[in-house]
Amino acid sequence: MTTHTDAPADHVGTRARLRDIYAAAHEQTLHPNALGWPGRPDERELDFISHVVYGRPGMAREGCAYLVKELAQLAEIERHLSAVFGIITAQLGADTSPISDGYDLHHALSCFAAEEYLHADFFYRYVRELADTDIKLADSLFSERLALYQGDDSPYVKLAAMCMAAYIGESVITVFEKRTAHLDPGREHFLTKLLWAHGMDEARHVQVDHVVLECIMPSFSEAEQRRAFEIFSGTEELNAELAGRFKQLIVDVFGVDHTVDNPAWDVQQSLTSVFRQAMTVTWPPSPVDERMDDETRKLLHEFAGTDRVHP
Ligand SMILES: [Fe+2]
Ligand SMILES: [Fe+2]
Repeated sequence: MTTHTDAPADHVGTRARLRDIYAAAHEQTLHPNALGWPGRPDERELDFISHVVYGRPGMAREGCAYLVKELAQLAEIERHLSAVFGIITAQLGADTSPISDGYDLHHALSCFAAEEYLHADFFYRYVRELADTDIKLADSLFSERLALYQGDDSPYVKLAAMCMAAYIGESVITVFEKRTAHLDPGREHFLTKLLWAHGMDEARHVQVDHVVLECIMPSFSEAEQRRAFEIFSGTEELNAELAGRFKQLIVDVFGVDHTVDNPAWDVQQSLTSVFRQAMTVTWPPSPVDERMDDETRKLLHEFAGTDRVHP
């Protein structure tokens, strides 16, 4: 069994960071029941969706198709993370390295997993309200995606792989949250409110990802680095296959290809590529804001009215 033997340089400080991230989590969150579900979007909401996705009116159906595709897929990925974190926290119960002392790491990962499980719940509901029909994917590759994390790798290697994969998507959805907040600062639209509620939790996830990148991954052995990348790459490949399946499902349900002449999709693709590079080009991987070139920053500014993804 691969074990994590090199303690981070300052494990007391790392545990304190994790403790601080979650200290007010119960106050900065919203249970799915508290979202005030409006049901099917009305004309105003549909017009807003058209503007968020296409930047112009008249594209509500295509905008809904795009959101259903991306958010149904996100719910699957969030559910997977929750299950993977279940495996990791179970393994950490037997881990004797200093970062596992006490309950700070366990608490942070348990709360992270619980929040993602609730996100999977509210996006599951939201896409059905948007589509006005049930959304059933025959096979979401859940077993295959989980199997990547069921080997005898150390829980830290699994945590690194899962956080690298999650961090890319979490950074992209943060940009979309900022776009809706920019277009709708009073949160009058449900989509804005939903992404705002999601973002309260995601702000913590991103901070945990940064702790993993900055405090946990630098101490990996070469073998651990290699395995973290293998599991990360395997996750990315299966997620790409999952995305293809959702794309086909949306074509079947809406008769729409969400990738055609869709400016939000184009931005999503560009950002995903830059954020993936932040995970793969350097060791340890870098926070996305440190990897952003001028062109990407300009894109971010035009799309979401901000110069940074994360604080
Ligand atoms: Fe989430
Ligand atoms: Fe998250």
